[in-house]
Amino acid sequence: MDPRQRKDVLRNITYGLYVTTTAQGEAVAAAGVSWLSQCSFEPPLVMMALRKDGALCALLRRSGRGVVHILGEGQAAVAKSFFGPTKHEAGTINGQPYKLEEGQPVLGAFPWYFHFEVREWVDRGDHSIAVAAVTGAHATGEATNPLALRDTSWSYGG
Ligand SMILES: Cc1cc2nc3c(=O)[nH]c(=O)nc-3n(C[C@H](O)[C@H](O)[C@H](O)COP(=O)(O)O)c2cc1C
Repeated sequence: MDPRQRKDVLRNITYGLYVTTTAQGEAVAAAGVSWLSQCSFEPPLVMMALRKDGALCALLRRSGRGVVHILGEGQAAVAKSFFGPTKHEAGTINGQPYKLEEGQPVLGAFPWYFHFEVREWVDRGDHSIAVAAVTGAHATGEATNPLALRDTSWSYGG
């Protein structure tokens, strides 16, 4: 397979953009994630692919639970701060205020979020897939449209 052709084709898979958080004791991790999809109606399950060498993946393996925030259109600038290491200080994660709900960090900036509990890990390539049950879903404010990765200058895939 020609790697360039592979990239050109696979980059046409469409994605959203999310910020996933988790906490275990004093430790907190957060990251911008695009490889996420619902994968069951009943029970409601999502699957999320996380870099095996990332801090979020490592902490989520310990905590087993967390929160996915769904970004709204116009929130690309906020997303950018979650593409680097987690900075946890003074009630903020990467500069965004949060509160703890059921022991997990909920960021105030985003229009929708849901709590999840990991049911299973699938380890194949350079990402680990968490198959997770959705345990609570919330809309926080005015209706908007979700941010699509293709409407930003970034890509993740290929
Ligand atoms: C557009 C975009 C999409 C991303 N999607 C994912 C993803 O689906 N899964 C993932 O593990 N990392 C993804 N990343 C990378 C993480 O956001 C980045 O590695 C983050 O800093 C991880 O931090 P950590 O090492 O603390 O886990 C993406 C990055 C960008 C720029």
